Amino acid sequence: MVAAMNASTGKVKQPTVALSLQQVRKTYGAFVALHALDLDVQAGEFLAVLGPSGSGKSTVLSMIAGLGQPDSGHIMIDGSDTTTLPTHKRGVGVVFQNYALFPHMSVFQNIAFPLERRGVPKTDIRQKVEDVCHRIGLAHAMMRRPEELSGGQRQRVALARCLVYAPSIILMDEPLAALDKRMRNQLQNEIRQLHRDLGTTIIYVTHDQHEALTMADRICLMNNGKIEQLATPGHLYAAPETVFAAEFLGDSNIFECREVYEEDNILQAKALNGRLELQGPLRTFVESVEAFLVRPEKITLSALGDDRGSVNSVRGCVRDVIFCGPITRFVIDLEMYDLIVDQVSSAEETRFSVGDVVVAHWKSADCIALTSGQKQ
Ligand SMILES: Nc1ncnc2c1ncn2[C@@H]1O[C@H](COP(=O)(O)OP(=O)(O)O)[C@@H](O)[C@H]1O
Ligand SMILES: [Mg+2]
Repeated sequence: MVAAMNASTGKVKQPTVALSLQQVRKTYGAFVALHALDLDVQAGEFLAVLGPSGSGKSTVLSMIAGLGQPDSGHIMIDGSDTTTLPTHKRGVGVVFQNYALFPHMSVFQNIAFPLERRGVPKTDIRQKVEDVCHRIGLAHAMMRRPEELSGGQRQRVALARCLVYAPSIILMDEPLAALDKRMRNQLQNEIRQLHRDLGTTIIYVTHDQHEALTMADRICLMNNGKIEQLATPGHLYAAPETVFAAEFLGDSNIFECREVYEEDNILQAKALNGRLELQGPLRTFVESVEAFLVRPEKITLSALGDDRGSVNSVRGCVRDVIFCGPITRFVIDLEMYDLIVDQVSSAEETRFSVGDVVVAHWKSADCIALTSGQKQ
């Protein structure tokens, strides 16, 4: 979250850190699941923890929730060290993929349970449970048992059971992964709306890049128990730092390159056995650039003979044309490399067809240098 300006005082309000992981390391036997992780989450932020299966997402969440102990490091919540505190003393709520509801209890009783455990008076419990049920569309189902609910409704109960005691941080581990697409989209919207209404800090684990891109303020991209990159969705898509990040989010054309050098704040390199000259913006990790990324929608196709200069420009043969609705995808054979190019579909017939020889070209600003691996 960015620092917000207070309209009446004109002072810049600094964001406060709700959660800080400091050098948190976790092993299972000889296997290192988390490598000394540092992560700050701002109060009110919606952070998505994204990564492939086995990258350590659930381990991060379980460390924050207190469902497991780190080997070393500290977990600070609202400025206090909670590393050794049990879950119910951390002020966090957790929602899992498998709803973990009590099957023999009604919706009302399930949601009331955490309040009873915290010793909240009975009359207050009724009020709070009814309020939260109204808020998330369960008012008509309060007396039903979990087995009488749809998957989407069960997940709403799990969410309500967490919202009802107003935790300062809500942790969600792939909460919608078991639902069908329509229900998933609906609950994604509802969770975003809840986040806007309540302003609670949310840490949301998912392996679904689309979910992370559309829901989060920032994405923490995990790979092999380390943070690969932490950035806003827009930045992560437009300026990934590593080959892994570029490939994990969105479609990509990645050129391994050599002879990288910098001149006048521009990076230059050669790729495709010297046939392609690349130029792109300078990056901080200039010493370790090993590839360049060009997103498919940043590439333009021209007829052979249009003079495009030789930089960021390559000749190839159209191998396939795929109509995908709003865009049309062209696959261009560059000998040893298939370039993908997305163009906005138009009502007229596409300009190029299979077998045409074309020139593919792009702007330097859209040619993004990458490093190959993880920073240690
Ligand atoms: N209790 C455990 N015992 C042994 N290995 C585990 C245990 N929990 C997780 N792991 C391993 O740690 C790695 C990270 O797991 P996890 O955090 O669950 O990944 P993710 O949620 O990203 O899929 C995986 O390789 C997993 O097999
Ligand atoms: Mg997991």
